[in-house]
Amino acid sequence: MRRDLLLRPLTGADFASARAVADDWFGRTVGLTMHRLFFEQLGSSGVHAAAADRPDRMVGVLLGLRSEVEPDLAYIHLHVVDPAMRGQGIGRALYAEFGARMTERGCRRVRALAAPTNAPSLRFHEALGFLGRFAGAHVGLGQDRIIFERALPLERT
Ligand SMILES: CC(C)(COP(=O)(O)OP(=O)(O)OC[C@H]1O[C@@H](n2cnc3c(N)ncnc32)[C@H](O)[C@@H]1OP(=O)(O)O)[C@@H](O)C(=O)NCCC(=O)NCCS
Repeated sequence: MRRDLLLRPLTGADFASARAVADDWFGRTVGLTMHRLFFEQLGSSGVHAAAADRPDRMVGVLLGLRSEVEPDLAYIHLHVVDPAMRGQGIGRALYAEFGARMTERGCRRVRALAAPTNAPSLRFHEALGFLGRFAGAHVGLGQDRIIFERALPLERT
């Protein structure tokens, strides 16, 4: 486990700071995909990452949940790392923390989506051992996705 990172569940109070940086960090408008619901109602499943010596400054965030339809499935809705902090293992640490908590709740696999054009996200999921399958128009007309899935637990970083 990385000791230089503070990883904790999300709270409703984290919504404003996450929303304020989301479009900039993604490089596009995220809109309602970063919904308050994930902080206020599902925050205990999400992950807030900060440097241990700067706990007030978010450097990464993961929004996720445990599936109600498939209780063995942990689902990652969205995750993003501060562009200035990428390539340092923060994305991997967010996934490891989420994976560990979901494993404790009985999940055996984890799923995340990526746009086929989002090369960094494709490489990230491949590096973490996910297998992807193409799903045409998965989130709307012309909106294909790669559905990535792998077994839990994930290795702790
Ligand atoms: C995808 C994202 C979260 C990765 O975060 P990160 O903190 O830079 O990733 P890490 O440093 O933990 O990298 C983990 C692994 O993925 C690989 N990886 C991450 N980004 C990569 C890239 N752009 N190209 C190639 N490999 C990459 C790393 O090499 C690393 O592999 P290793 O541990 O075997 O060396 C980050 O690029 C991001 O925030 N992108 C914008 C938001 C986004 O697209 N989110 C996904 C859709 S919701």
